[in-house]
Amino acid sequence: MIKQPLKNLAIIMDGNGRWANRRGLNRTKGHEKGAEIIRDVTTYCAKHPSIETVTFYAFSTENWKRPKLEVEFLMKLLDRYLKDELETYQKNNVQFKAIGNMNAFSTKLQKRILLTEEATKHNKDLIHILALNYGGRAEITDAVNRLIAEGKTVLEESDISSALQTPYSDVDLLIRTSGEERVSNYLLWQMSYAELYFTETLWPDFTNSELDEIISDFEQRTRRFGGLS
Ligand code: IPE
Ligand code: IPE
Ligand code: MG
Repeated sequence: MIKQPLKNLAIIMDGNGRWANRRGLNRTKGHEKGAEIIRDVTTYCAKHPSIETVTFYAFSTENWKRPKLEVEFLMKLLDRYLKDELETYQKNNVQFKAIGNMNAFSTKLQKRILLTEEATKHNKDLIHILALNYGGRAEITDAVNRLIAEGKTVLEESDISSALQTPYSDVDLLIRTSGEERVSNYLLWQMSYAELYFTETLWPDFTNSELDEIISDFEQRTRRFGGLS
């Protein structure tokens, strides 16, 4: 049987708070540990022969509803993460890209994001995307508004696909950790024929060996796209 090649991987990293609570720690400790897992998974994906992009859900348009202190911590963590990760991106030939509405972030953080994108733009082994203040509905709405502003009155699906922020229009595999089985406004357009994988593992406990098993499972699946196998 021919193996299904995995090109575009998307991950909903969930369960940081529960991981910390179970250890009697502050939720912020779960986010810190979670950031380390992103680094491991990115390095794995950069070495993988078929993966071209990996898109991590780091902050949703709905996550502003969380306590102010947690939101502030996440913003600081993100700035620190990008500063520290530049070396990992360069060493592993990884291009960094952010999707979402960055206008809501501090000028310092926006600069850090742009600087990291600029510094890694020629790296070719993997595109590592962080979804930040991202919502699938907002992304589609923005794309349509942009096309209207360009003077389009009737849209083709391909117009919308190419106006999205992601460099791809189809996710092949979506993994969500922590046992929750929902998509929480993530990559709604891109997910139309994605294979879904839900694991009970909390994000801070996620390992590359579990990822390896999930990818093997994906490679065995038959994708029909509405046709017959
Ligand atoms: C995911 O972990 C990280 C973000 C949403 C930023 P959570 O913070 O949602 O962790 P749980 O779901 O409360 O355990
Ligand atoms: C989804 O996780 C968003 C991110 C992982 C960034 P949430 O924990 O915010 O999702 P819900 O609220 O459980 O659906
Ligand atoms: Mg959660």
